[in-house]
Amino acid sequence: DTVESVIVAIDGPSGTGKSSTSKAVASALGLSYLDTGAQYRAITWWMITNGIDVSDPLAIASAAGKPVIESGTDPSAPAITVDGLDASGPIREQDVTSKVSAVSAVPEVRTRITELQRSIARAAEKGIVVEGRDIGTTVLPDADLKIFLTASPEARAARRSGEIKGADVTATREALIKRDAADSSRKTSPLAKADDAVEVDTTDLTLQQVIECVVTLVEERRGAT
Ligand code: DC
Repeated sequence: DTVESVIVAIDGPSGTGKSSTSKAVASALGLSYLDTGAQYRAITWWMITNGIDVSDPLAIASAAGKPVIESGTDPSAPAITVDGLDASGPIREQDVTSKVSAVSAVPEVRTRITELQRSIARAAEKGIVVEGRDIGTTVLPDADLKIFLTASPEARAARRSGEIKGADVTATREALIKRDAADSSRKTSPLAKADDAVEVDTTDLTLQQVIECVVTLVEERRGAT
């Protein structure tokens, strides 16, 4: 077989179309898919349900190794379990969303989840699309292609509130800006564009256009090796 395994890192803030794009690109190219935000959400959900004080970084750090997190890598059916329980519903709840930045800023959490991500990427024989905040910079610095998705705060808030039933655009925008600021300013492995990442501003693009753009970039990379 002449097609080699390819590793694609897709980073950026929320509401840029990262998940939709990553899943569609993986499906189109027959690659595996990993949602790393779901893993940080899953560990946050476990902390909340197990009574860990998420305002206490020391408490988070000492519990970081306890939950068993397993991620599926099928782009058409992304699955995530914590201690064997399906976490795909609860990790999208507002309570988890508002606490995930604090939990994911703790270095012990990041070390643990980063190791998990690397082992999943290594095991993907045909290659994988990995989406997150620090994939190109920290998790997979040798990725074959790095994409950094951006969009205006207005476009991102509009997309996010469209996904949440009854959401208020202004409140969504405020919450989103707050979470990005926390994710971008944390000490350990913040949200950042890698020097060698291709930046794609999705503000005025349809999802289909973003997908086509990334698929083309992957094919160019593959052709070049
Ligand atoms: O992509 P998302 O909104 O589901 O991510 C949830 C949170 O997880 C995000 O606010 C920051 C954190 N995260 C991270 O710190 N590093 C990643 N690679 C992915 C997500």
